[in-house]
Amino acid sequence: MTDQATERHARQVEAWNGPTGAQWAASEARTERGLAPVLAALMDWAAPAPGMRVLDVGCGAGGTTLALAQAVAPTGHVTGLDVSAVILEAARARLAETPNVTLTLADALTWSLPGEPADLLFSRFGVMFFGDPVAAFANLRRSLKPAGRFAFAAWAPLAENPWMDIPYQAALSVLPPPAPPLPASDPNEPGQFAFGNPARVLRLLHDAGYPTARVRPFDFNMRFPADDIARTATGLSNMGQTGRLLRDHPEALRTQAATAIAQAITPLAKGPWIDLPARVLLFEAAAP
Ligand SMILES: C[S@@+](CC[C@H](N)C(=O)[O-])C[C@H]1O[C@@H](n2cnc3c(N)ncnc32)[C@H](O)[C@@H]1O
Repeated sequence: MTDQATERHARQVEAWNGPTGAQWAASEARTERGLAPVLAALMDWAAPAPGMRVLDVGCGAGGTTLALAQAVAPTGHVTGLDVSAVILEAARARLAETPNVTLTLADALTWSLPGEPADLLFSRFGVMFFGDPVAAFANLRRSLKPAGRFAFAAWAPLAENPWMDIPYQAALSVLPPPAPPLPASDPNEPGQFAFGNPARVLRLLHDAGYPTARVRPFDFNMRFPADDIARTATGLSNMGQTGRLLRDHPEALRTQAATAIAQAITPLAKGPWIDLPARVLLFEAAAP
């Protein structure tokens, strides 16, 4: 790995063990509700079946790990792998009563599954944060049995995700110049929208030793409550790229951004909900 890739990777590991991870763990229940359609689509796409061994990469607070454990029960097993201690703590609490799960605090760039290799590598939004995706994908392949599958979901570009673009643009509108670079403007920078270019991701998979791979988009709505728009707007101001954009600014500016987000989403409310369009890319690759 180049020094730059090592540095990018270390920044992500630090962030997921710092404020980004704490924020993710704190909003776990709300996030899980919002991402339920992605879980359903990715479970269909990945087709985990009873008896399989599955590795859930970047398993987060365990929502996907639990669904996988239920799908492979009673004889299958799921390992949830995550680099964030604070997030894995939430997963441990959630999965304490689930017998066919092991949770491991380790880095997907270097760790591999002990014992039998997996039938399936699975990830909902857990693989876009590697400083060197080819190195990480190649390492993950060591945990996969021959002809095993690697199925994951990643976000399509910001502009195709109004649920994030609307709050992001509203937050930008209150920031003083100069405007920060657009998310994913550097294709090598890991992050939420790092895998928005499907051709690039297919190439990365190929270079990492997965000879066949495919992709398809999945569209859905991110649903937010309209009964307390100020609260919804504050939640959106803390999320993903918008959260990162605002994090180092003073409290007063973050409050101004939340107000701008509230103004942008208020006209979109229909009854008790605000539904904002979202697009995800579903990838599947096969090991040789
Ligand atoms: C956006 S969250 C998704 C969590 C979970 N998959 C879900 O859908 O709820 C990304 C997760 O990937 C984890 N992650 C980031 N880099 C990682 C790495 N190098 N190795 C393992 N996990 C990593 C983070 O700690 C975080 O839990």
